Amino acid sequence: MASTVILLITLTIFLKAQAQAQAPAPSPSGTLNLTAILEKGGQYTTLIRLLQETQQLTQIESQLKSNSQGFSLFAPTDNAFMNLKSGALNGLTDDQKVKLILFHVTPKYYSLSDLLTVSNPVRTQATEKEGTWGLNFTGKGQQLNVSTGVVDTPVNNALREKFPLAVYQVDKVLLPLELFGEKDKTPSSSSAPSPKSSKTSPEIPSIANAGGAPSPSGDEKNGGVGSNVGVGVVVGLALLCMGALS
Ligand SMILES: *[C@@H]1O[C@H](CO)[C@@H](O)[C@H](O)[C@H]1NC(C)=O
Ligand SMILES: *[C@@H]1O[C@H](CO)[C@@H](O)[C@H](O)[C@H]1NC(C)=O
Ligand SMILES: *[C@@H]1O[C@H](CO)[C@@H](O)[C@H](O)[C@H]1NC(C)=O
Repeated sequence: MASTVILLITLTIFLKAQAQAQAPAPSPSGTLNLTAILEKGGQYTTLIRLLQETQQLTQIESQLKSNSQGFSLFAPTDNAFMNLKSGALNGLTDDQKVKLILFHVTPKYYSLSDLLTVSNPVRTQATEKEGTWGLNFTGKGQQLNVSTGVVDTPVNNALREKFPLAVYQVDKVLLPLELFGEKDKTPSSSSAPSPKSSKTSPEIPSIANAGGAPSPSGDEKNGGVGSNVGVGVVVGLALLCMGALS
């Protein structure tokens, strides 16, 4: 009888502790809102739309919480998109649009002065094989350029330059050599539209996968609750035994 009471008390204490542990943590001050940063910039509506269409906005925002290296985004202005040759964007498949967006993001935070001395080429989220889909940075004094092999343009205005996220204005869309390098512009990449995948939207390469960042999902859910329950039971049993012995 006494042991049952002890068990119940233990369980009650344990469940209370669990409830507290699982209550949503107060949102950490300064949760990053990339849309808000870009909206404040006032000239990034096309980029925001593309980030949303390709689902990279949510990817970046959620990855920012777990990617310890941070991110840098090179943000082309609306003018930059308007100055593209007509059809340049519409000629891309959905997969290629995703790659184009990933190409504007590096899986690491760089300050402007980091970029002046970084070793080229710099990996982007689009990089699969070492040395492909990379960005080159060249500096002369305080003037910094980013070059893709197709475009070469200054990096000047920082919309945000604070770990873990840097957002830099670029006045040209960074066209990857891999998509726009050839004269006839028919990308010979593997992502040519395959007959069956046109409707069933293919898996969108996520920031996590592309960057090789550790997957944030699962771990907490699988590990957390389960092992806590285990610990609780063990503690409960231990207390039970102590109660029975005394
Ligand atoms: C981020 O900012 C945008 C624009 O200011 C707003 O519409 C959106 O609700 C914000 N998202 C979050 C998660 O706060
Ligand atoms: C980028 O820099 C690397 C190393 O200097 C060089 O090998 C490569 O050709 C450059 N790529 C472009 C597109 O300029
Ligand atoms: C940066 O690019 C511009 C062309 O967009 C070029 O005129 C300038 O010389 C480049 N500067 C550097 C440091 O490479």
